[in-house]
Amino acid sequence: MSENKQPVTRRQFLTYTLTGVGGFMAAGMLMPLVRFAIDPVLKPAPKHDMVQVVSVDKITNEPQKFDFQVHQVDAWYESEVTTSAWVYKEGNEIIALSPVCKHLGCTVDWNTDPANQNHFFCPCHYGLYTKDGTNVPNTPPMAPLDVYVQEVKDGYLYLGKAQPRKGA
Ligand code: FES
Repeated sequence: MSENKQPVTRRQFLTYTLTGVGGFMAAGMLMPLVRFAIDPVLKPAPKHDMVQVVSVDKITNEPQKFDFQVHQVDAWYESEVTTSAWVYKEGNEIIALSPVCKHLGCTVDWNTDPANQNHFFCPCHYGLYTKDGTNVPNTPPMAPLDVYVQEVKDGYLYLGKAQPRKGA
């Protein structure tokens, strides 16, 4: 039986101890920073709440613009943002369109271009959309206006997220 014990020198002991304590302290400082950096990724995606926008009896056959507030979560930053929708009735159906132009994101207006009555018009680059939000060929927008997810409850229209039209 051979005894091959090598005593730990004072220098080695201090090196091991300081390395261990230093590593422990560094981990203690880094963990909150790492947690802060990846926290938004760890959170479940916020579900988009439906927001009450307008009483159904105020909706006409003519598109009207209604503003409403949505709670927006952008990584660490949460805020209330005012957004709007063009809303009108087509028979018994309610149509709620996003006012954001699908070309470069300007805001479209209803019926403001004298040369194209009863169209949504984007003044930035003369974009045109028909009343149902379809982009007019040979104008800059390449897709129809987004459509809001909607529901009617207790006589009020609630809107959720604006989504591209299916097939668009
Ligand atoms: S942003 Fe609307 S036409 Fe260009």
